[in-house]
Amino acid sequence: MTEPAHYLRRMVDELSGRGELAPEWRESFLSVPRHTFIPGLVWRQDMTIRDDNDLVPLQRENDPETWLKLAYEPQASIITQVDDGCPAGPGLRGCVITSSASQPNVVARMLAALDVAPGMTVCEIGTGTGYNTALLAHRLGAWSVTTIEIDPQIAARARQALTHAGYDDVTMITGNGCDGYALRAPYDRVLATCAAYRVPYQWVAQTRPGGQVVTPWETPYGAGGLLSLTVSDDGTATGGIVDNVAFMWLRDQRPPRAPLRESVYDRDKTSVTYTDLHPAYASNFDPAVAVALRVPQCEKVRCSAIDGSGAFTLWFLDPLSRSWARIDYEPGADTYQVDQLGPRRLWDEVEAACRWWLDAGSPKAEQWRFTVTPEGQHIELVS
Ligand SMILES: C[S@@+](CC[C@H](N)C(=O)[O-])C[C@H]1O[C@@H](n2cnc3c(N)ncnc32)[C@H](O)[C@@H]1O
Repeated sequence: MTEPAHYLRRMVDELSGRGELAPEWRESFLSVPRHTFIPGLVWRQDMTIRDDNDLVPLQRENDPETWLKLAYEPQASIITQVDDGCPAGPGLRGCVITSSASQPNVVARMLAALDVAPGMTVCEIGTGTGYNTALLAHRLGAWSVTTIEIDPQIAARARQALTHAGYDDVTMITGNGCDGYALRAPYDRVLATCAAYRVPYQWVAQTRPGGQVVTPWETPYGAGGLLSLTVSDDGTATGGIVDNVAFMWLRDQRPPRAPLRESVYDRDKTSVTYTDLHPAYASNFDPAVAVALRVPQCEKVRCSAIDGSGAFTLWFLDPLSRSWARIDYEPGADTYQVDQLGPRRLWDEVEAACRWWLDAGSPKAEQWRFTVTPEGQHIELVS
Protein backbone atom coordinates (compact mmCIF):
# COMPACT_ATOMS: atom_id res chain seq x y z
CA MET A 1 0.00 0.00 0.00
CA THR A 2 1.45 3.37 -1.07
CA GLU A 3 1.96 6.02 1.62
CA PRO A 4 -0.56 8.92 1.47
CA ALA A 5 2.39 11.36 1.66
CA HIS A 6 3.58 10.09 -1.74
CA TYR A 7 0.28 10.91 -3.42
CA LEU A 8 0.00 14.21 -1.53
CA ARG A 9 3.40 15.43 -2.74
CA ARG A 10 2.60 14.30 -6.31
CA MET A 11 -0.71 16.20 -6.26
CA VAL A 12 0.91 19.39 -4.98
CA ASP A 13 3.77 19.17 -7.51
CA GLU A 14 1.32 18.65 -10.35
CA LEU A 15 -0.84 21.60 -9.27
CA SER A 16 2.24 23.80 -8.97
CA GLY A 17 3.64 22.55 -12.28
CA ARG A 18 0.41 23.43 -14.07
CA GLY A 19 0.45 26.92 -12.53
CA GLU A 20 -2.82 26.27 -10.68
CA LEU A 21 -1.45 26.48 -7.14
CA ALA A 22 -0.45 29.97 -6.01
CA PRO A 23 2.90 29.86 -4.14
CA GLU A 24 1.33 31.33 -0.99
CA TRP A 25 -1.02 28.32 -0.78
CA ARG A 26 1.61 25.60 -1.34
CA GLU A 27 2.49 25.13 2.33
CA SER A 28 -1.18 24.72 3.28
CA PHE A 29 -1.76 22.15 0.52
CA LEU A 30 1.31 20.23 1.73
CA SER A 31 0.19 20.37 5.36
CA VAL A 32 -3.46 19.24 5.05
CA PRO A 33 -3.76 15.49 4.35
CA ARG A 34 -6.74 15.46 1.98
CA HIS A 35 -7.54 11.76 2.44
CA THR A 36 -8.47 12.35 6.09
CA PHE A 37 -11.39 14.48 4.87
CA ILE A 38 -12.73 11.93 2.38
CA PRO A 39 -15.37 9.52 3.71
CA GLY A 40 -14.86 5.77 3.30
CA LEU A 41 -17.91 5.57 1.01
CA VAL A 42 -17.71 7.61 -2.19
CA TRP A 43 -19.30 7.31 -5.64
CA ARG A 44 -18.03 7.30 -9.22
CA GLN A 45 -19.95 7.81 -12.44
CA ASP A 46 -20.24 4.70 -14.60
CA MET A 47 -20.92 5.86 -18.18
CA THR A 48 -21.80 2.34 -19.26
CA ILE A 49 -24.91 2.28 -17.07
CA ARG A 50 -27.92 3.13 -19.18
CA ASP A 51 -30.36 4.23 -16.47
CA ASP A 52 -30.37 7.41 -14.37
CA ASN A 53 -28.70 5.77 -11.35
CA ASP A 54 -25.23 5.76 -12.88
CA LEU A 55 -23.33 6.81 -9.72
CA VAL A 56 -21.85 3.65 -8.26
CA PRO A 57 -20.42 3.28 -4.75
CA LEU A 58 -16.74 2.71 -4.01
CA GLN A 59 -16.00 1.51 -0.47
CA ARG A 60 -12.54 2.25 0.86
CA GLU A 61 -12.26 -1.16 2.53
CA ASN A 62 -12.92 -2.95 -0.77
CA ASP A 63 -10.25 -1.11 -2.76
CA PRO A 64 -8.06 1.05 -0.49
CA GLU A 65 -5.42 1.87 -3.12
CA THR A 66 -7.97 3.15 -5.69
CA TRP A 67 -9.70 5.13 -2.95
CA LEU A 68 -6.41 6.71 -1.84
CA LYS A 69 -5.37 7.56 -5.39
CA LEU A 70 -8.75 9.21 -5.94
CA ALA A 71 -8.26 11.26 -2.77
CA TYR A 72 -5.18 12.88 -4.34
CA GLU A 73 -6.30 13.07 -7.98
CA PRO A 74 -5.58 16.75 -8.82
CA GLN A 75 -8.29 17.12 -11.43
CA ALA A 76 -11.18 15.03 -10.18
CA SER A 77 -13.92 15.84 -7.74
CA ILE A 78 -14.98 13.04 -5.40
CA ILE A 79 -18.67 12.38 -4.95
CA THR A 80 -19.34 12.09 -1.23
CA GLN A 81 -23.14 12.13 -1.16
CA VAL A 82 -25.87 11.23 -3.66
CA ASP A 83 -29.59 12.00 -3.66
CA ASP A 84 -29.39 14.06 -0.45
CA GLY A 85 -28.15 11.03 1.49
CA CYS A 86 -30.74 8.47 0.30
CA PRO A 87 -29.34 6.74 -2.80
CA ALA A 88 -32.21 6.31 -5.27
CA GLY A 89 -30.95 3.15 -6.98
CA PRO A 90 -30.28 -0.43 -5.95
CA GLY A 91 -27.02 -1.31 -4.15
CA LEU A 92 -26.42 2.30 -3.01
CA ARG A 93 -26.36 3.48 -6.63
CA GLY A 94 -27.30 7.15 -7.00
CA CYS A 95 -28.75 9.58 -9.50
CA VAL A 96 -27.89 13.14 -8.41
CA ILE A 97 -24.64 14.36 -6.83
CA THR A 98 -25.54 16.31 -3.69
CA SER A 99 -22.14 16.71 -2.03
CA SER A 100 -18.57 16.32 -3.19
CA ALA A 101 -14.98 17.18 -2.45
CA SER A 102 -14.20 19.70 -5.17
CA GLN A 103 -11.36 19.09 -7.65
CA PRO A 104 -8.08 20.14 -5.99
CA ASN A 105 -7.11 22.25 -9.01
CA VAL A 106 -10.43 24.13 -8.78
CA VAL A 107 -10.00 24.49 -5.00
CA ALA A 108 -6.55 25.98 -5.64
CA ARG A 109 -7.80 28.39 -8.31
CA MET A 110 -10.71 29.52 -6.14
CA LEU A 111 -8.43 30.14 -3.18
CA ALA A 112 -6.13 32.18 -5.41
CA ALA A 113 -9.14 34.21 -6.61
CA LEU A 114 -10.14 34.77 -2.98
CA ASP A 115 -7.00 36.85 -2.57
CA VAL A 116 -6.74 36.48 1.21
CA ALA A 117 -3.90 37.29 3.56
CA PRO A 118 -3.24 36.33 7.17
CA GLY A 119 -5.28 38.55 9.50
CA MET A 120 -8.41 38.31 7.34
CA THR A 121 -11.65 36.54 8.24
CA VAL A 122 -13.57 34.29 5.86
CA CYS A 123 -17.08 32.89 5.86
CA GLU A 124 -17.29 29.73 3.73
CA ILE A 125 -20.65 28.49 2.45
CA GLY A 126 -20.83 24.74 1.74
CA THR A 127 -18.39 22.99 4.11
CA GLY A 128 -18.75 19.62 2.36
CA THR A 129 -15.86 17.43 3.50
CA GLY A 130 -14.16 20.31 5.33
CA TYR A 131 -11.01 20.08 3.18
CA ASN A 132 -11.25 23.62 1.83
CA THR A 133 -12.10 24.81 5.34
CA ALA A 134 -8.92 23.17 6.65
CA LEU A 135 -6.81 24.87 3.98
CA LEU A 136 -8.28 28.23 4.99
CA ALA A 137 -7.73 27.41 8.67
CA HIS A 138 -4.10 26.45 8.03
CA ARG A 139 -3.38 29.69 6.18
CA LEU A 140 -5.44 32.18 8.24
CA GLY A 141 -5.77 30.47 11.62
CA ALA A 142 -8.79 28.37 12.55
CA TRP A 143 -10.30 31.16 14.60
CA SER A 144 -10.60 33.35 11.46
CA VAL A 145 -12.76 30.84 9.61
CA THR A 146 -16.53 30.37 9.78
CA THR A 147 -18.09 27.64 7.68
CA ILE A 148 -21.73 26.75 7.04
CA GLU A 149 -23.11 23.42 5.82
CA ILE A 150 -26.81 22.78 5.27
CA ASP A 151 -26.78 18.99 5.55
CA PRO A 152 -26.50 17.84 9.19
CA GLN A 153 -24.85 14.49 8.35
CA ILE A 154 -22.23 16.10 6.13
CA ALA A 155 -21.67 18.83 8.73
CA ALA A 156 -21.13 16.27 11.50
CA ARG A 157 -18.54 14.40 9.44
CA ALA A 158 -16.70 17.58 8.48
CA ARG A 159 -16.62 18.68 12.11
CA GLN A 160 -15.03 15.36 13.07
CA ALA A 161 -12.44 15.60 10.30
CA LEU A 162 -11.58 19.20 11.19
CA THR A 163 -11.15 18.28 14.85
CA HIS A 164 -9.00 15.30 13.92
CA ALA A 165 -6.79 17.59 11.82
CA GLY A 166 -6.43 20.06 14.70
CA TYR A 167 -8.77 22.78 13.43
CA ASP A 168 -11.48 22.61 16.08
CA ASP A 169 -11.39 26.41 16.54
CA VAL A 170 -13.17 26.80 13.19
CA THR A 171 -16.71 28.12 13.76
CA MET A 172 -18.83 25.43 12.13
CA ILE A 173 -22.52 26.17 11.61
CA THR A 174 -25.16 23.71 10.44
CA GLY A 175 -27.73 25.77 8.60
CA ASN A 176 -28.68 27.58 5.43
CA GLY A 177 -25.62 29.37 4.09
CA CYS A 178 -27.83 31.80 2.12
CA ASP A 179 -28.37 33.61 5.42
CA GLY A 180 -24.63 33.84 6.08
CA TYR A 181 -23.75 34.01 9.76
CA ALA A 182 -24.34 37.52 11.06
CA LEU A 183 -22.92 36.87 14.54
CA ARG A 184 -19.33 36.78 13.20
CA ALA A 185 -19.77 39.44 10.49
CA PRO A 186 -18.37 41.53 8.95
CA TYR A 187 -16.03 39.22 7.04
CA ASP A 188 -13.18 40.19 4.77
CA ARG A 189 -14.24 37.45 2.37
CA VAL A 190 -17.29 35.29 1.73
CA LEU A 191 -16.48 32.18 -0.30
CA ALA A 192 -19.18 29.82 -1.54
CA THR A 193 -18.33 26.32 -2.73
CA CYS A 194 -21.81 25.69 -4.09
CA ALA A 195 -23.41 27.64 -6.90
CA ALA A 196 -25.83 30.54 -6.80
CA TYR A 197 -28.01 31.79 -9.66
CA ARG A 198 -29.01 34.81 -7.59
CA VAL A 199 -26.24 35.81 -5.16
CA PRO A 200 -27.88 36.05 -1.70
CA TYR A 201 -27.71 39.66 -0.53
CA GLN A 202 -26.76 38.56 3.00
CA TRP A 203 -23.32 37.61 1.67
CA VAL A 204 -22.80 41.19 0.51
CA ALA A 205 -24.32 42.68 3.68
CA GLN A 206 -21.96 40.60 5.85
CA THR A 207 -18.79 41.56 3.94
CA ARG A 208 -16.95 44.72 4.93
CA PRO A 209 -16.55 47.51 2.34
CA GLY A 210 -13.59 46.66 0.11
CA GLY A 211 -14.02 42.96 0.86
CA GLN A 212 -14.95 40.29 -1.67
CA VAL A 213 -17.65 37.74 -2.27
CA VAL A 214 -16.36 34.85 -4.38
CA THR A 215 -18.92 32.34 -5.56
CA PRO A 216 -19.67 29.99 -8.43
CA TRP A 217 -22.54 31.40 -10.50
CA GLU A 218 -24.65 28.79 -12.25
CA THR A 219 -27.70 28.92 -14.51
CA PRO A 220 -30.43 26.38 -15.23
CA TYR A 221 -28.95 26.24 -18.75
CA GLY A 222 -25.73 24.83 -17.29
CA ALA A 223 -23.43 27.75 -18.09
CA GLY A 224 -21.71 29.81 -15.47
CA GLY A 225 -18.38 30.61 -13.89
CA LEU A 226 -16.62 31.88 -10.81
CA LEU A 227 -17.84 35.33 -9.76
CA SER A 228 -15.70 37.74 -7.82
CA LEU A 229 -17.60 40.74 -6.46
CA THR A 230 -16.16 43.68 -4.53
CA VAL A 231 -18.32 45.25 -1.86
CA SER A 232 -18.66 49.07 -1.85
CA ASP A 233 -19.33 51.51 0.98
CA ASP A 234 -22.96 51.81 -0.15
CA GLY A 235 -23.55 48.10 0.56
CA THR A 236 -23.71 46.95 -3.06
CA ALA A 237 -21.27 44.60 -4.77
CA THR A 238 -20.03 44.60 -8.36
CA GLY A 239 -17.74 42.34 -10.34
CA GLY A 240 -17.76 39.60 -12.87
CA ILE A 241 -16.74 36.13 -13.97
CA VAL A 242 -13.04 35.43 -13.35
CA ASP A 243 -12.77 31.69 -14.07
CA ASN A 244 -14.57 28.76 -15.63
CA VAL A 245 -15.84 26.47 -12.87
CA ALA A 246 -18.96 24.35 -12.39
CA PHE A 247 -20.45 23.54 -8.99
CA MET A 248 -23.53 21.93 -7.53
CA TRP A 249 -26.37 24.26 -6.60
CA LEU A 250 -27.13 25.87 -3.30
CA ARG A 251 -29.93 23.54 -2.21
CA ASP A 252 -32.58 26.24 -2.14
CA GLN A 253 -31.76 27.47 -5.65
CA ARG A 254 -31.85 24.11 -7.43
CA PRO A 255 -33.90 24.49 -10.61
CA PRO A 256 -36.77 22.06 -11.26
CA ARG A 257 -35.35 19.08 -13.05
CA ALA A 258 -36.75 15.91 -14.58
CA PRO A 259 -34.61 13.00 -15.78
CA LEU A 260 -33.89 13.18 -19.53
CA ARG A 261 -35.83 9.99 -20.10
CA GLU A 262 -39.03 11.53 -18.67
CA SER A 263 -38.64 14.91 -20.38
CA VAL A 264 -38.14 13.57 -23.87
CA TYR A 265 -41.54 12.22 -24.92
CA ASP A 266 -43.11 11.43 -28.34
CA ARG A 267 -39.75 11.18 -30.08
CA ASP A 268 -41.49 10.21 -33.32
CA LYS A 269 -43.62 13.39 -33.39
CA THR A 270 -40.90 16.05 -33.53
CA SER A 271 -40.53 18.67 -36.20
CA VAL A 272 -37.21 18.08 -37.93
CA THR A 273 -35.10 20.90 -39.35
CA TYR A 274 -31.43 21.45 -40.18
CA THR A 275 -29.06 24.21 -39.18
CA ASP A 276 -25.58 25.24 -40.21
CA LEU A 277 -24.82 26.72 -36.77
CA HIS A 278 -22.15 24.58 -35.14
CA PRO A 279 -23.70 23.08 -31.95
CA ALA A 280 -20.53 23.99 -30.03
CA TYR A 281 -21.79 27.59 -29.94
CA ALA A 282 -24.59 26.39 -27.70
CA SER A 283 -22.22 24.80 -25.20
CA ASN A 284 -18.84 26.56 -25.28
CA PHE A 285 -18.03 28.72 -22.25
CA ASP A 286 -18.32 32.28 -23.66
CA PRO A 287 -21.41 31.92 -25.89
CA ALA A 288 -23.17 29.64 -23.41
CA VAL A 289 -23.14 32.40 -20.78
CA ALA A 290 -24.97 34.65 -23.26
CA VAL A 291 -27.42 31.88 -24.19
CA ALA A 292 -28.10 31.19 -20.51
CA LEU A 293 -28.97 34.85 -19.95
CA ARG A 294 -31.16 35.16 -23.06
CA VAL A 295 -33.00 31.83 -22.94
CA PRO A 296 -34.56 31.49 -19.50
CA GLN A 297 -35.85 28.25 -18.05
CA CYS A 298 -34.02 25.98 -20.44
CA GLU A 299 -31.79 23.16 -19.28
CA LYS A 300 -29.00 21.88 -21.52
CA VAL A 301 -27.71 18.32 -21.27
CA ARG A 302 -24.68 17.21 -23.24
CA CYS A 303 -24.17 13.53 -24.04
CA SER A 304 -20.86 12.66 -25.64
CA ALA A 305 -20.37 9.48 -27.66
CA ILE A 306 -18.43 6.95 -25.62
CA ASP A 307 -16.63 5.67 -28.75
CA GLY A 308 -14.23 8.64 -28.57
CA SER A 309 -15.31 9.90 -32.03
CA GLY A 310 -16.01 13.41 -30.75
CA ALA A 311 -19.71 13.13 -31.68
CA PHE A 312 -22.19 14.55 -29.20
CA THR A 313 -25.85 15.35 -28.71
CA LEU A 314 -27.18 18.42 -26.97
CA TRP A 315 -30.61 18.21 -25.38
CA PHE A 316 -32.61 21.29 -24.40
CA LEU A 317 -35.40 20.80 -21.87
CA ASP A 318 -38.10 22.92 -20.31
CA PRO A 319 -40.07 20.61 -18.02
CA LEU A 320 -42.57 23.39 -17.14
CA SER A 321 -43.85 23.87 -20.70
CA ARG A 322 -43.05 20.26 -21.66
CA SER A 323 -40.82 21.38 -24.52
CA TRP A 324 -37.65 19.71 -25.67
CA ALA A 325 -35.18 19.80 -28.52
CA ARG A 326 -32.04 17.99 -29.58
CA ILE A 327 -29.20 18.66 -31.98
CA ASP A 328 -26.65 16.07 -33.06
CA TYR A 329 -23.04 16.86 -33.84
CA GLU A 330 -20.98 14.55 -36.04
CA PRO A 331 -17.33 15.48 -36.74
CA GLY A 332 -16.92 16.64 -40.35
CA ALA A 333 -20.60 17.53 -40.91
CA ASP A 334 -21.58 21.07 -41.92
CA THR A 335 -25.31 20.86 -41.29
CA TYR A 336 -26.86 19.40 -38.19
CA GLN A 337 -30.23 17.79 -37.63
CA VAL A 338 -32.53 19.41 -35.06
CA ASP A 339 -35.61 17.80 -33.46
CA GLN A 340 -38.07 19.98 -31.53
CA LEU A 341 -41.33 19.34 -29.72
CA GLY A 342 -43.65 21.31 -27.46
CA PRO A 343 -44.94 24.86 -27.22
CA ARG A 344 -41.42 26.35 -27.02
CA ARG A 345 -39.07 25.88 -29.98
CA LEU A 346 -36.06 25.58 -27.70
CA TRP A 347 -33.40 25.13 -30.34
CA ASP A 348 -34.72 28.14 -32.27
CA GLU A 349 -34.39 30.21 -29.08
CA VAL A 350 -30.88 28.91 -28.43
CA GLU A 351 -29.81 29.46 -32.05
CA ALA A 352 -31.14 33.04 -31.97
CA ALA A 353 -29.15 33.67 -28.78
CA CYS A 354 -25.97 32.23 -30.33
CA ARG A 355 -26.41 34.44 -33.40
CA TRP A 356 -27.00 37.46 -31.12
CA TRP A 357 -23.72 36.61 -29.39
CA LEU A 358 -21.89 36.45 -32.73
CA ASP A 359 -23.42 39.76 -33.88
CA ALA A 360 -22.45 41.37 -30.55
CA GLY A 361 -18.77 40.63 -31.34
CA SER A 362 -18.48 37.31 -29.45
CA PRO A 363 -18.19 38.83 -25.95
CA LYS A 364 -16.17 36.91 -23.40
CA ALA A 365 -17.81 35.63 -20.23
CA GLU A 366 -15.69 38.18 -18.31
CA GLN A 367 -17.46 41.05 -20.09
CA TRP A 368 -20.71 40.60 -18.15
CA ARG A 369 -20.87 42.92 -15.14
CA PHE A 370 -22.81 41.69 -12.10
CA THR A 371 -24.25 44.06 -9.52
CA VAL A 372 -25.87 42.80 -6.32
CA THR A 373 -27.99 45.19 -4.25
CA PRO A 374 -30.64 44.68 -1.55
CA GLU A 375 -33.21 44.80 -4.38
CA GLY A 376 -31.62 41.96 -6.37
CA GLN A 377 -29.06 41.12 -9.03
CA HIS A 378 -28.45 42.94 -12.29
CA ILE A 379 -26.29 41.61 -15.15
CA GLU A 380 -25.21 43.74 -18.12
CA LEU A 381 -22.71 43.51 -20.92
CA VAL A 382 -19.83 45.96 -20.76
CA SER A 383 -17.28 46.46 -23.51
C1 LIG B 1 -19.23 21.00 -3.67
S1 LIG B 1 -19.70 20.70 -2.04
C2 LIG B 1 -18.48 21.55 -1.08
C3 LIG B 1 -17.10 21.10 -1.29
C4 LIG B 1 -16.20 21.45 -0.14
N1 LIG B 1 -15.75 22.80 -0.20
C5 LIG B 1 -15.06 20.48 -0.09
O1 LIG B 1 -13.95 20.81 -0.48
O2 LIG B 1 -15.30 19.36 0.34
C6 LIG B 1 -21.07 21.75 -1.80
C7 LIG B 1 -21.67 21.66 -0.42
O3 LIG B 1 -22.58 22.74 -0.26
C8 LIG B 1 -23.60 22.30 0.58
N2 LIG B 1 -24.75 23.21 0.45
C9 LIG B 1 -25.69 23.24 -0.53
N3 LIG B 1 -26.57 24.22 -0.30
C10 LIG B 1 -26.18 24.84 0.85
C11 LIG B 1 -26.69 25.92 1.61
N4 LIG B 1 -27.80 26.59 1.23
N5 LIG B 1 -26.05 26.28 2.73
C12 LIG B 1 -24.92 25.61 3.14
N6 LIG B 1 -24.40 24.57 2.47
C13 LIG B 1 -25.01 24.19 1.33
C14 LIG B 1 -23.88 20.89 0.10
O4 LIG B 1 -24.57 20.12 1.07
C15 LIG B 1 -22.46 20.39 -0.17
O5 LIG B 1 -21.94 19.72 0.93
